[in-house]
Amino acid sequence: MKDILTLGIETSCDETSVAIVKNGRELLANIIDTQIPIHEKYGGVVPEIASRNHVEAISRVVKYALKEANVTFDDIDAITPTYGPGLVGALLVGVSYGKALSYASNKPLVGVNHIHGHIAANYITHKDLKPPFICLLISGGNTQIIHVKGYTEFEVLGKTRDDAIGEAFDKVARVVGLGYPGGPKVDKLANEGKPTIKLPKTHFDNSLDFSFSGIKTAVINLNHNTKDLNKADLCASFETTVTEVIIENTLKAIEQTGLNTLAIGGGCSANSFIRKEILKLQDRGIKTYMPDMKLCTDNAAMIASAGYYNFINEKRDGLDLNAIPGLKI
Ligand code: KG4
Repeated sequence: MKDILTLGIETSCDETSVAIVKNGRELLANIIDTQIPIHEKYGGVVPEIASRNHVEAISRVVKYALKEANVTFDDIDAITPTYGPGLVGALLVGVSYGKALSYASNKPLVGVNHIHGHIAANYITHKDLKPPFICLLISGGNTQIIHVKGYTEFEVLGKTRDDAIGEAFDKVARVVGLGYPGGPKVDKLANEGKPTIKLPKTHFDNSLDFSFSGIKTAVINLNHNTKDLNKADLCASFETTVTEVIIENTLKAIEQTGLNTLAIGGGCSANSFIRKEILKLQDRGIKTYMPDMKLCTDNAAMIASAGYYNFINEKRDGLDLNAIPGLKI
């Protein structure tokens, strides 16, 4: 059978990324042009600045990706941009560029849901992983427990009712003065502390949903009201508490579905403590999968992989494809 090459385009937030993936699993190129240094001075992503930088970077990043993969544009079978969820102006850059490439080359356009991409990051890292499995999706915009029934078939079993877990990490980082991007900084400082501070956990009866606003507020209040608070201990306590919550709900999902394969995905799956705790679930007979570190945060490799599965399942989009900032799974 002929190999299929997908060209993934990711511009949903602050990374301009283009990747080329063979048959959904083999990474030929994954170029990530990050805007973190640009947004750092504002303490977070400024949407308008993100869009403008995507416009400046996108052509260059496409060229680098083709060069790195050692292929020409003629070798590409489908163009697969992220069309949501994300920042609308940022998404529009990748969607418009993908549409222009598709129109000019007469190659199929296949839009990709960014969340499907985070799940697909595991397919590149683990060649043996096949649905069905449970995916714990923990990112800056989403926190969900997903039953991955097939490569293009998903059911959300639980989700956050307020903040995403990554938002809580970023907020805690800001409150304790670590700055942006918060998750990796909390991760680092937590490794120097001990989880000695009791923080609230939110659970809902008969539901696998999450809530992180309570713990976020508790951290803010503690930080304002406690003299000589040990920030490393606070970070370690926050990290331990949210990890306990996500693992407790995930175990319930595993029990409910009878599936014993678990994958994680999204920016927070780069967290060293979360990775350690997920790995421990192997002792309970659960097969666990995690993306390579570089595939946890936003990248186009995962988008090209998800795009491949859309493509072989006959999904096609026209030039009316639009950015959908609130796209659901
Ligand atoms: O997946 P991602 O790059 O973007 C979305 O699709 O949302 O996730 C970004 C989030 C941010 O909130 C960031 O702070 C968090 O992932 N993050 C981490 C770590 N690295 C990134 N959170 C905790 N520990 C980390 N090491």
